[in-house]
This record gives sequence, C-alpha cells and structure tokens, in this order.
Amino acid sequence: MLTIHLKELKPFDAQNYLQHAIAPRPICFASTIDKAGNVNLSPFSFFNLFSSNPPVVIFSPARRVRDNTTKHTLENVLEIPEVVINIVDFDMVQQTSLASCEFAKGTNEFIKAGFTEEKATLVSPPMVKESKIKLECKVLEVKPLGTEGGAGNLVICEVLCMHIDESILDADHSATAQGLPKIDQTKLHHVARLGGDWYAKIDESNLFKVAKPNTQLGIGVDALPESIRKSSILTGNNLGQLANVHEMPFVDPAFTDDKLKNIIQYYSINPDEMDKELHRYAKELLDAGKVTEAWQVLLADY
Ligand SMILES: Cc1cc2nc3c(=O)[nH]c(=O)nc-3n(C[C@H](O)[C@H](O)[C@H](O)COP(=O)(O)O)c2cc1C
Repeated sequence: MLTIHLKELKPFDAQNYLQHAIAPRPICFASTIDKAGNVNLSPFSFFNLFSSNPPVVIFSPARRVRDNTTKHTLENVLEIPEVVINIVDFDMVQQTSLASCEFAKGTNEFIKAGFTEEKATLVSPPMVKESKIKLECKVLEVKPLGTEGGAGNLVICEVLCMHIDESILDADHSATAQGLPKIDQTKLHHVARLGGDWYAKIDESNLFKVAKPNTQLGIGVDALPESIRKSSILTGNNLGQLANVHEMPFVDPAFTDDKLKNIIQYYSINPDEMDKELHRYAKELLDAGKVTEAWQVLLADY
C-alpha cells in the first residue's frame, strides 16, 4: 500500500492523486455574467448536492495551480451572485470540454463551444438550451479555502428552480405528491469526470440498484452464522446482501427448488462439498439479486 502525505507533494501531483481517487464527479456547467453583462460558461467537477431543504449545491472554481490566478466564473459570481447550473450529459460532453479552454475574459463560451443561450426565468445568466436539466441558482456565499494555487473557492448556491426536459421524465407516471412526473434515471446519460482525461458515461449497461431498507435495520455481517461469514465462496457484496435482512430468516417449508434438491441428493455423502456447492448456488442467486432464495439455499445447510 502506497501511503502519501499530501503536504509533501507538489500541488499538481496532489491534485492528480485526489482527482483519480475522488471520482466519478458530476459536472456543473456554470453560466454566469459579470457587471457589464458579459456571459461566461465553464465546467466544474468539484460539484455536488449538499442539502435538499434548503436546496443547496456547491461547486468550486479553484485558483490555478500553474500561476495562482482565479477563474472568470469566480470573478463573475462575486460581481453578480447568480448562476445557472446546467447538468452535462453524454450528448454535450465534447462541447463542454471545449468550453473549458482558457478563453480571454469577456469571451462568451456559448458561442465558442456552439451552445444555444436560453433566457432563464429568475436569474440573469442564460441557460444552456441543449442541457436536459438546468438549475437556476442564487449564490448564498463564496468561501475561499486558501490563497495558494489549487485552493478551491466554494460557491454555495441555493437552487431556486429546476427545468427538466420532457424526454427524461418517467413515462410510467411515477409522480410526486403534487402529481408531477419524476426523472427516469435510465433516460439521462450523465457524464462524470474522473482523474486526468478520464470520463464515465452512465447508461442502462452500467446502472444497478442496491436495495436499502431505510425503516428497518439490517442484522449486520456480525450476526451471520460463522460458516457464511467465513465462506471462501461468498464475496463481501454477497455478505452485505445477506446481512441486509432485518431478521435472521427461517427455513421456509414451502420453498422448493430443483437445483437445491439435486445438490442435497448428489452431495449427501460429502458434507464439505455440499456446503461449497450450496454456497456456489447461493452466490449465483445473490448475484442475480435473489436474496430470499439465497437465504433458503444457505439454510438448507443446517
Ligand atoms: C469536465 C471539467 C471539469 C472541470 N472542473 C473544474 C473544477 O471543478 N474546478 C476548476 O477550478 N476547474 C475545473 N475545470 C477547468 C475549468 O473549466 C477551466 O479552468 C475554465 O477555463 C475556467 O473558465 P473561466 O475562467 O471562464 O471560469 C474543469 C474542466 C473540465 C473540462
């Protein structure tokens, strides 16, 4: 294991390790204006959601590591404390990268990167028409984190309103309490920034769900029987799934499964091999998300 003390590194190397490690990061494509009304559009992946009530997001235009200068976006929000945060998806990623070039102050990156300005409803910077989600925000506070190159500046923003493209709304009409359609996570192909030039694209091939009971507690890995906890076949993910049940399951007499029957019959004279075979089958079921069935297979061991 390589252990690194960040203060001993050159800022550029520290940034490199951190950006590869803290990844993937969502991208805030920030539209701002200065006092003279010049529009600026730049991407920031030091960005996330920090509160939903009040709705607060934060992004960080850092002081340049190279020469300790500040970004136009930072200068703009200090002049006019408003921003539109446009969410970046795969269809926009190359133009978004183009907008990150260090164009001279006053250059409108909507024009340079080929995006279309759309008038916002509550704030003065324009929205990116091509973006499928736009957040109109008021800047609550700008908090500098340091004065050296690489120091971030937290731009703390309250989200006043969201605009969501119809194409990414839930067609099955899963609705809010007010009857508004929700976002269908599978329809928006977010991109995220990782280390160096690496990006990730979210789509149905890499999305998955992890069931999280939030009203009842999981029993915990420490409560699993030792033979399961110390299994040489079940993985950490499998133990996490099994230990997420809120009480230790019982053998269900109604549970029937041909493969389970075959394992028990075939390996009855060799209990050690039977254990392994049951764990292999339970793993197969867990990897397919079938936790209840996997528990029944493992309980056949007792
Ligand atoms: C995807 C992406 C994410 C970026 N994230 C950040 C960031 O979080 N903080 C930062 O200071 N610069 C970041 N940059 C670099 C800025 O976009 C770049 O410095 C830009 O020129 C700043 O523009 P401005 O001076 O007009 O504000 C990122 C660049 C790209 C392409």
